[in-house]
Amino acid sequence: MAGSRKKRPLSHSVLQEGRNLWTVNANPGVAVRGESLRKFRGVEHRRWDPNRSKLAAGLLRTRKDPSMLLPEEGTTVLYLGAGHGTTISHLHDHLCGQDNESRGRLVAVDLAPRCLRDLTYLARQRPGLVPFLGDARKYDTWGVLVPSKVDWLFQDVAQAGQVDIFLTATKRFLAKGGIGLLSLKAASERQQDGNESDVFAKAFDQLEEHVEVLEHINLTGFEDQHALFVIRMR
Ligand SMILES: C[S@@+](CC[C@H](N)C(=O)[O-])C[C@H]1O[C@@H](n2cnc3c(N)ncnc32)[C@H](O)[C@@H]1O
Repeated sequence: MAGSRKKRPLSHSVLQEGRNLWTVNANPGVAVRGESLRKFRGVEHRRWDPNRSKLAAGLLRTRKDPSMLLPEEGTTVLYLGAGHGTTISHLHDHLCGQDNESRGRLVAVDLAPRCLRDLTYLARQRPGLVPFLGDARKYDTWGVLVPSKVDWLFQDVAQAGQVDIFLTATKRFLAKGGIGLLSLKAASERQQDGNESDVFAKAFDQLEEHVEVLEHINLTGFEDQHALFVIRMR
């Protein structure tokens, strides 16, 4: 029975229940993308769909302690390739909470005006979320929003040169010992880079030259042709 499945807290606001993930809703009564809302012990949670969020898929797939993939609550983090805010909203539940009670700051950069429109709408209901219309590669335009280095950085830009963009961003914005997550879409890289496993192997080698690679998580089944690389800044 669904209600009796074993629940494991991954943080104060992220709950794993078998193959399901839930976050405590920082905007009670409101679903962001039509996800289920459900009360556990009287507290409203939103279902975090691993088929629509590579971070959620990574939390379920990692062979290590999943809480290592999450930033510390109440900190400042940087997210490149924010999209329409699906993952961002759950991250916000975890990082900030209702009325930003944890005093977190989630800087969310995306290139597409239509994404920014959705992110701006979300930010009105979710203090602590700071959307910016910008190119992840041109940090001179948005870097001012991140005055000190952060301990957690996520990138999901799905465009060619993803590893270079990530390495430049980590060097500039990720503190020593900080955790970076790179969602890599093999199909976005150039054809001459080879097939999916060639792209992932090449990415692994390139990352290892600069940062400590903690894990290569294959997301096949949740997001085909995708991998999540977890790194720590040296
Ligand atoms: C796969 S979607 C992101 C989905 C989102 N991370 C989520 O889980 O909800 C990729 C996003 O990257 C953005 N993007 C692509 N190239 C970019 C760049 N150079 N700088 C910033 N955003 C970029 C696209 O506009 C798109 O919204």
